[in-house]
Amino acid sequence: MELLDGKAISKQLKEEIREEVAVMVAKGHRPPHLAVILVGNNAASETYVSAKVKACKTTGFESSLLQFPPEITQEMLLQTIDELNENEEVDGFIVQLPLPKHIDSKTVIERVIPTKDVDGFHPINVGKMALGLDAFISATPGGIIELLKRYEIQTEGKHCVVLGRSNIVGGPMAMLMRRNTYPGNSTVTVAHSRTNNLKEICLQADILIAAIGKPEFVTADMVKEGAVVVDVGINRVDDSTRERGYRLTGDVDFKNVANKCSYITPVPGGVGPMTIAYLLNNTMIAARKRM
Ligand code: GUN
Repeated sequence: MELLDGKAISKQLKEEIREEVAVMVAKGHRPPHLAVILVGNNAASETYVSAKVKACKTTGFESSLLQFPPEITQEMLLQTIDELNENEEVDGFIVQLPLPKHIDSKTVIERVIPTKDVDGFHPINVGKMALGLDAFISATPGGIIELLKRYEIQTEGKHCVVLGRSNIVGGPMAMLMRRNTYPGNSTVTVAHSRTNNLKEICLQADILIAAIGKPEFVTADMVKEGAVVVDVGINRVDDSTRERGYRLTGDVDFKNVANKCSYITPVPGGVGPMTIAYLLNNTMIAARKRM
Protein backbone atom coordinates (compact mmCIF):
# COMPACT_ATOMS: atom_id res chain seq x y z
CA MET A 1 0.00 0.00 0.00
CA GLU A 2 1.25 3.47 -0.87
CA LEU A 3 -0.13 6.69 0.57
CA LEU A 4 -1.46 9.31 -1.82
CA ASP A 5 0.23 12.09 0.08
CA GLY A 6 -1.93 15.15 -0.52
CA LYS A 7 0.08 17.20 1.91
CA ALA A 8 3.32 16.66 -0.02
CA ILE A 9 1.75 17.09 -3.47
CA SER A 10 -0.13 20.23 -2.41
CA LYS A 11 3.17 21.66 -1.20
CA GLN A 12 4.68 20.93 -4.62
CA LEU A 13 1.73 22.56 -6.40
CA LYS A 14 1.84 25.62 -4.13
CA GLU A 15 5.58 25.95 -4.71
CA GLU A 16 5.02 25.96 -8.49
CA ILE A 17 2.34 28.63 -8.05
CA ARG A 18 4.58 30.66 -5.72
CA GLU A 19 7.32 30.70 -8.37
CA GLU A 20 4.87 31.89 -11.02
CA VAL A 21 3.62 34.65 -8.71
CA ALA A 22 7.21 35.79 -8.10
CA VAL A 23 7.79 36.09 -11.89
CA MET A 24 4.48 37.92 -12.30
CA VAL A 25 5.36 40.44 -9.60
CA ALA A 26 8.92 40.89 -10.91
CA LYS A 27 7.36 41.91 -14.25
CA GLY A 28 5.45 44.66 -12.45
CA HIS A 29 2.02 43.02 -12.20
CA ARG A 30 0.12 42.86 -8.95
CA PRO A 31 -0.11 39.39 -7.37
CA PRO A 32 -3.27 37.27 -7.73
CA HIS A 33 -6.00 38.30 -5.32
CA LEU A 34 -8.52 35.86 -3.79
CA ALA A 35 -11.44 37.10 -1.71
CA VAL A 36 -13.33 34.78 0.62
CA ILE A 37 -16.81 35.46 1.99
CA LEU A 38 -17.62 33.75 5.26
CA VAL A 39 -21.10 34.03 6.77
CA GLY A 40 -21.83 32.97 10.34
CA ASN A 41 -19.72 30.93 12.69
CA ASN A 42 -19.70 27.35 11.46
CA ALA A 43 -16.56 25.95 13.14
CA ALA A 44 -15.52 23.74 10.21
CA SER A 45 -16.01 26.61 7.72
CA GLU A 46 -13.88 28.90 9.89
CA THR A 47 -11.09 26.30 9.85
CA TYR A 48 -11.26 25.85 6.07
CA VAL A 49 -11.36 29.59 5.42
CA SER A 50 -8.38 30.33 7.62
CA ALA A 51 -6.44 27.56 5.85
CA LYS A 52 -7.32 29.17 2.51
CA VAL A 53 -6.19 32.62 3.65
CA LYS A 54 -2.98 31.16 5.08
CA ALA A 55 -2.25 29.35 1.79
CA CYS A 56 -2.63 32.69 -0.03
CA LYS A 57 0.11 34.15 2.16
CA THR A 58 2.47 31.21 1.51
CA THR A 59 2.14 31.57 -2.24
CA GLY A 60 2.37 35.35 -2.34
CA PHE A 61 -1.30 35.98 -3.15
CA GLU A 62 -3.30 38.92 -1.87
CA SER A 63 -6.31 37.76 0.10
CA SER A 64 -9.37 39.42 1.58
CA LEU A 65 -11.59 37.82 4.17
CA LEU A 66 -15.08 39.30 4.22
CA GLN A 67 -16.75 38.03 7.35
CA PHE A 68 -20.45 38.56 8.10
CA PRO A 69 -22.72 37.69 11.02
CA PRO A 70 -25.23 34.85 10.45
CA GLU A 71 -28.12 37.29 10.30
CA ILE A 72 -26.85 39.11 7.20
CA THR A 73 -29.70 39.47 4.70
CA GLN A 74 -29.54 37.73 1.35
CA GLU A 75 -29.84 41.13 -0.30
CA MET A 76 -26.72 42.42 1.49
CA LEU A 77 -24.79 39.30 0.60
CA LEU A 78 -25.79 39.65 -3.07
CA GLN A 79 -24.71 43.28 -2.98
CA THR A 80 -21.29 42.25 -1.65
CA ILE A 81 -21.00 39.74 -4.49
CA ASP A 82 -21.91 42.44 -7.03
CA GLU A 83 -19.11 44.62 -5.64
CA LEU A 84 -16.56 41.80 -5.90
CA ASN A 85 -17.77 41.01 -9.43
CA GLU A 86 -16.91 44.60 -10.39
CA ASN A 87 -13.75 45.04 -8.34
CA GLU A 88 -10.79 45.10 -10.77
CA GLU A 89 -8.38 44.36 -7.92
CA VAL A 90 -9.96 40.95 -7.20
CA ASP A 91 -9.23 38.03 -9.55
CA GLY A 92 -11.46 35.45 -7.97
CA PHE A 93 -13.65 34.90 -4.94
CA ILE A 94 -15.65 32.25 -3.14
CA VAL A 95 -18.60 32.14 -0.79
CA GLN A 96 -17.89 29.48 1.80
CA LEU A 97 -20.73 26.96 2.12
CA PRO A 98 -22.94 26.08 3.93
CA LEU A 99 -24.87 29.34 4.27
CA PRO A 100 -27.50 30.07 6.96
CA LYS A 101 -30.94 28.63 6.17
CA HIS A 102 -32.56 31.99 5.30
CA ILE A 103 -30.14 32.43 2.39
CA ASP A 104 -30.67 30.55 -0.85
CA SER A 105 -27.29 29.09 -1.89
CA LYS A 106 -28.42 28.61 -5.49
CA THR A 107 -29.23 32.33 -5.88
CA VAL A 108 -25.90 33.25 -4.27
CA ILE A 109 -23.86 30.90 -6.48
CA GLU A 110 -25.57 32.20 -9.62
CA ARG A 111 -24.74 35.80 -8.71
CA VAL A 112 -20.97 35.21 -8.88
CA ILE A 113 -19.60 36.23 -12.26
CA PRO A 114 -18.38 32.97 -13.90
CA THR A 115 -14.95 34.47 -14.75
CA LYS A 116 -14.26 35.01 -11.03
CA ASP A 117 -15.98 31.82 -9.85
CA VAL A 118 -12.80 30.06 -8.72
CA ASP A 119 -14.89 27.51 -6.78
CA GLY A 120 -16.36 26.39 -10.11
CA PHE A 121 -19.87 26.22 -8.63
CA HIS A 122 -21.67 28.48 -11.13
CA PRO A 123 -23.93 26.57 -13.58
CA ILE A 124 -21.92 28.06 -16.48
CA ASN A 125 -18.70 26.51 -15.16
CA VAL A 126 -20.38 23.21 -14.27
CA GLY A 127 -21.99 23.06 -17.71
CA LYS A 128 -18.76 23.90 -19.53
CA MET A 129 -16.89 21.27 -17.54
CA ALA A 130 -19.56 18.70 -18.41
CA LEU A 131 -19.03 19.52 -22.08
CA GLY A 132 -15.25 19.34 -21.76
CA LEU A 133 -14.85 23.08 -22.39
CA ASP A 134 -12.46 25.42 -20.65
CA ALA A 135 -13.93 26.06 -17.17
CA PHE A 136 -13.11 26.43 -13.52
CA ILE A 137 -13.21 22.95 -12.04
CA SER A 138 -14.30 22.94 -8.42
CA ALA A 139 -11.45 22.60 -6.02
CA THR A 140 -12.04 19.22 -4.38
CA PRO A 141 -12.58 17.19 -7.59
CA GLY A 142 -9.86 19.22 -9.31
CA GLY A 143 -7.46 18.52 -6.46
CA ILE A 144 -8.21 14.79 -6.60
CA ILE A 145 -7.61 14.71 -10.36
CA GLU A 146 -4.25 16.46 -9.80
CA LEU A 147 -3.32 13.95 -7.09
CA LEU A 148 -4.13 10.96 -9.35
CA LYS A 149 -2.13 12.58 -12.15
CA ARG A 150 0.98 13.22 -10.06
CA TYR A 151 0.99 9.63 -8.78
CA GLU A 152 0.44 8.41 -12.39
CA ILE A 153 -2.57 6.34 -11.31
CA GLN A 154 -3.99 4.41 -14.27
CA THR A 155 -7.61 5.41 -14.82
CA GLU A 156 -8.36 4.39 -18.41
CA GLY A 157 -10.86 1.53 -18.63
CA LYS A 158 -11.01 1.24 -14.85
CA HIS A 159 -14.23 1.00 -12.94
CA CYS A 160 -14.46 4.10 -10.78
CA VAL A 161 -17.15 4.12 -8.12
CA VAL A 162 -17.99 7.57 -6.76
CA LEU A 163 -19.80 7.35 -3.44
CA GLY A 164 -21.86 10.52 -3.08
CA ARG A 165 -23.66 12.79 -5.54
CA SER A 166 -23.22 16.29 -4.13
CA ASN A 167 -22.82 19.29 -6.43
CA ILE A 168 -19.47 20.08 -4.76
CA VAL A 169 -17.78 16.67 -5.01
CA GLY A 170 -19.61 13.53 -6.21
CA GLY A 171 -21.33 15.09 -9.22
CA PRO A 172 -18.30 16.85 -10.78
CA MET A 173 -15.97 13.99 -9.78
CA ALA A 174 -18.04 11.52 -11.80
CA MET A 175 -18.01 13.85 -14.81
CA LEU A 176 -14.23 14.25 -14.65
CA MET A 177 -13.49 10.53 -14.32
CA ARG A 178 -15.55 9.71 -17.42
CA ARG A 179 -13.94 12.46 -19.55
CA ASN A 180 -12.10 11.43 -22.67
CA THR A 181 -8.68 12.39 -21.30
CA TYR A 182 -6.20 11.49 -18.57
CA PRO A 183 -7.02 11.24 -15.68
CA GLY A 184 -10.37 9.98 -16.88
CA ASN A 185 -11.62 7.45 -19.41
CA SER A 186 -12.98 5.44 -16.49
CA THR A 187 -16.28 3.60 -16.41
CA VAL A 188 -18.08 5.50 -13.69
CA THR A 189 -20.78 4.43 -11.26
CA VAL A 190 -22.29 7.04 -8.96
CA ALA A 191 -23.55 5.37 -5.79
CA HIS A 192 -25.28 7.16 -2.90
CA SER A 193 -27.38 6.76 0.22
CA ARG A 194 -30.32 5.29 -1.77
CA THR A 195 -28.28 2.80 -3.81
CA ASN A 196 -29.23 -0.88 -3.54
CA ASN A 197 -26.40 -3.42 -3.13
CA LEU A 198 -23.94 -0.70 -2.22
CA LYS A 199 -21.36 -3.12 -0.87
CA GLU A 200 -21.40 -5.23 -4.06
CA ILE A 201 -20.98 -2.12 -6.21
CA CYS A 202 -18.09 -0.80 -4.10
CA LEU A 203 -16.44 -4.22 -4.32
CA GLN A 204 -16.28 -3.80 -8.10
CA ALA A 205 -14.35 -0.54 -7.85
CA ASP A 206 -10.80 -0.32 -9.16
CA ILE A 207 -10.94 3.30 -7.98
CA LEU A 208 -13.23 4.13 -5.08
CA ILE A 209 -13.89 7.79 -4.29
CA ALA A 210 -15.72 8.16 -0.99
CA ALA A 211 -17.58 11.45 -0.56
CA ILE A 212 -20.63 10.42 1.41
CA GLY A 213 -19.99 12.41 4.60
CA LYS A 214 -20.34 9.48 7.01
CA PRO A 215 -17.43 8.65 9.29
CA GLU A 216 -15.68 5.35 8.43
CA PHE A 217 -18.58 4.31 6.21
CA VAL A 218 -16.37 2.33 3.83
CA THR A 219 -15.22 -0.82 5.59
CA ALA A 220 -12.67 -3.41 4.46
CA ASP A 221 -15.37 -5.85 3.24
CA MET A 222 -16.48 -3.22 0.68
CA VAL A 223 -13.07 -2.80 -0.94
CA LYS A 224 -11.48 -4.92 -3.67
CA GLU A 225 -7.90 -6.10 -3.17
CA GLY A 226 -5.54 -3.65 -4.89
CA ALA A 227 -8.09 -0.83 -5.27
CA VAL A 228 -7.16 2.86 -5.26
CA VAL A 229 -9.13 4.55 -2.48
CA VAL A 230 -9.66 8.31 -2.28
CA ASP A 231 -11.24 9.52 0.96
CA VAL A 232 -12.93 12.91 0.68
CA GLY A 233 -14.55 12.82 4.14
CA ILE A 234 -13.53 15.21 6.90
CA ASN A 235 -15.82 14.25 9.76
CA ARG A 236 -15.58 15.53 13.30
CA VAL A 237 -16.16 12.65 15.72
CA ASP A 238 -16.50 13.30 19.47
CA ASP A 239 -13.38 12.19 21.30
CA SER A 240 -12.99 13.12 24.95
CA THR A 241 -9.36 11.95 24.96
CA ARG A 242 -8.47 14.89 22.68
CA GLU A 243 -7.98 18.36 24.06
CA ARG A 244 -10.29 19.88 21.44
CA GLY A 245 -12.97 17.25 22.18
CA TYR A 246 -13.07 15.68 18.69
CA ARG A 247 -10.92 13.90 16.15
CA LEU A 248 -11.05 14.06 12.37
CA THR A 249 -11.93 10.94 10.47
CA GLY A 250 -12.61 10.22 6.85
CA ASP A 251 -15.44 8.33 5.15
CA VAL A 252 -13.15 5.28 5.04
CA ASP A 253 -12.16 2.97 7.88
CA PHE A 254 -8.50 3.67 7.09
CA LYS A 255 -6.95 1.26 9.60
CA ASN A 256 -8.63 -1.81 8.10
CA VAL A 257 -9.02 -0.69 4.48
CA ALA A 258 -5.40 0.42 3.98
CA ASN A 259 -4.09 -3.18 3.98
CA LYS A 260 -6.23 -4.05 0.96
CA CYS A 261 -5.41 -1.03 -1.22
CA SER A 262 -2.70 -0.29 -3.73
CA TYR A 263 -3.07 3.44 -2.90
CA ILE A 264 -5.07 5.34 -0.32
CA THR A 265 -5.38 8.96 0.83
CA PRO A 266 -5.00 9.63 4.57
CA VAL A 267 -7.31 11.93 6.57
CA PRO A 268 -6.05 14.47 7.38
CA GLY A 269 -3.28 15.06 4.83
CA GLY A 270 -4.96 13.66 1.71
CA VAL A 271 -7.70 15.41 -0.22
CA GLY A 272 -8.03 18.42 2.16
CA PRO A 273 -4.71 20.11 1.32
CA MET A 274 -5.22 19.35 -2.40
CA THR A 275 -8.54 21.24 -2.31
CA ILE A 276 -6.79 24.33 -1.00
CA ALA A 277 -3.92 24.11 -3.47
CA TYR A 278 -6.38 23.70 -6.34
CA LEU A 279 -8.31 26.79 -5.27
CA LEU A 280 -5.06 28.74 -5.56
CA ASN A 281 -4.46 27.09 -8.94
CA ASN A 282 -7.88 28.35 -10.12
CA THR A 283 -7.17 31.84 -8.80
CA MET A 284 -3.84 31.79 -10.66
CA ILE A 285 -5.71 30.89 -13.87
CA ALA A 286 -8.07 33.82 -13.28
CA ALA A 287 -5.13 36.15 -12.65
CA ARG A 288 -3.28 35.03 -15.82
CA LYS A 289 -6.27 36.11 -17.90
CA ARG A 290 -5.71 39.78 -17.00
CA MET A 291 -2.01 39.71 -18.04
N1 GUN B 1 -17.77 23.97 1.69
C1 GUN B 1 -17.19 22.75 1.63
N2 GUN B 1 -16.31 22.70 0.60
C2 GUN B 1 -16.33 23.90 0.01
C3 GUN B 1 -15.64 24.45 -1.10
O1 GUN B 1 -14.82 23.82 -1.77
N3 GUN B 1 -15.94 25.75 -1.39
C4 GUN B 1 -16.86 26.46 -0.69
N4 GUN B 1 -17.09 27.71 -1.07
N5 GUN B 1 -17.53 25.98 0.33
C5 GUN B 1 -17.26 24.70 0.68
